[in-house]
Amino acid sequence: MRSPDFQQYVDFDKGLVDRRIFSDPAIYDLEMERIFARAWNFVVHDSQIPNTGDYFMSWIGSDQVISVRNKKGGVSVLLNSCRHRGAAVCRAERGNTKTFVCPYHGWSYGLEGELVGVPGFRDFYRNDLDREGLALGRAAQVATYKGFVFATMDPEAIPLEEYLGDVGRTGLSMIADRGDVQVVDGVQKNVIGCNWKIAVDNLYDWYHPPVSHKSAVMVSPLFADPDAVFAPMQQMVMLGDYGHGIGGPMWTEEEFQAAGQRGPMADRLMAERRTERVQTAMGPAGSRSKGHPSIFPNLWITLNGLQMCLRVPRGPYKTEFWWFTFVEKDAPDFIRKMMVQVASHLFGPAGILEQDDGENWELASRGTRGPAIRRYPLHYGMGAGHDEVIEAGGQARIETRVNEHGQRWTYQAWCDWMSAKDWPELKANHTPAPRGRI
Ligand code: FES
Ligand SMILES: [Fe+2]
Repeated sequence: MRSPDFQQYVDFDKGLVDRRIFSDPAIYDLEMERIFARAWNFVVHDSQIPNTGDYFMSWIGSDQVISVRNKKGGVSVLLNSCRHRGAAVCRAERGNTKTFVCPYHGWSYGLEGELVGVPGFRDFYRNDLDREGLALGRAAQVATYKGFVFATMDPEAIPLEEYLGDVGRTGLSMIADRGDVQVVDGVQKNVIGCNWKIAVDNLYDWYHPPVSHKSAVMVSPLFADPDAVFAPMQQMVMLGDYGHGIGGPMWTEEEFQAAGQRGPMADRLMAERRTERVQTAMGPAGSRSKGHPSIFPNLWITLNGLQMCLRVPRGPYKTEFWWFTFVEKDAPDFIRKMMVQVASHLFGPAGILEQDDGENWELASRGTRGPAIRRYPLHYGMGAGHDEVIEAGGQARIETRVNEHGQRWTYQAWCDWMSAKDWPELKANHTPAPRGRI
């Protein structure tokens, strides 16, 4: 596909988005190249692979990768495809191994992807094979931020910390600075028939809960006071370069200073957020956020950093949802059980919220496919032009009511990523995070 100016698909000021970006297979293919193969993608958390040979399998766009703890203590991120005929050299989602042995003809690879064994090397290949040149493909760069391992396939990608920026780092700190956390065994996975971006933009959507999740609100004790949970008139949005963001309810400065208003759970969280560690990690504004961080392109962190979810694209109309639940390493067993229960109760295949969301995302994605309906752009214009980015206090943010700033920002960043031909161009030309009137 040629690369048209992708700005034609998104009108940021009016908040209009062309439906074709959710359903055109050629656009989807280009997203795999221009977004996923370039971005820093979360691949594994340190706690999932503590020992040499531990591995966890995931996806960078349409490339399946194995993240494995190597003998030097680092993480190798290897492409799961044999250099002989391309078969997968690893079939399990996680495990521990000394080598990855291809099931087709038996080539075997070490923990850094090096080709260590070739059946018939002497007799059939006559000792004539460039073994060193036939290592597994690997990520161009791997880096870790507070235990979160990211990889990029692009050698020109900017360093991870610069990529994340203040907003991305604040978002990850929402989990990391809860304490010494680890991923609970068993990443929950389910498939929803939607385009991945529809699910991504929903994480900023605090307009839908009272409607979509009305039944959940009626039955679940977690929503006994829905206004306190959803806080529709008290929202904060932080927008960062390259498409990162945090959006959702906030505590006002006054509330943040005064405890005892929202019950023991909220008070405990607020006390945690007021500690010096969290203040330093999340900043004075970030630590007042109770919203959802998004690390572009597809990593969502849930309210209060209990879980995170990868929206793994598996085709224009199919997305896998991978739910990771985090608990403190030293949490007593009953707390661990309770957190897992809360997590499973809300999201994942059995989650009362995700069942509502999945239905909507599937229907919304279906609504982008018809040639006639595609003439009508989707509307993301709520609040456009009515808010101001506040910069006082060092962390730029918008403090407002329910809005669609985060969604518009996601699609503006999407245009930047899709239009740039390489990283230097993306770095030079990407839209800087908004300032002033928005
Ligand atoms: S495809 Fe892997 S050894 Fe032949
Ligand atoms: Fe929802």
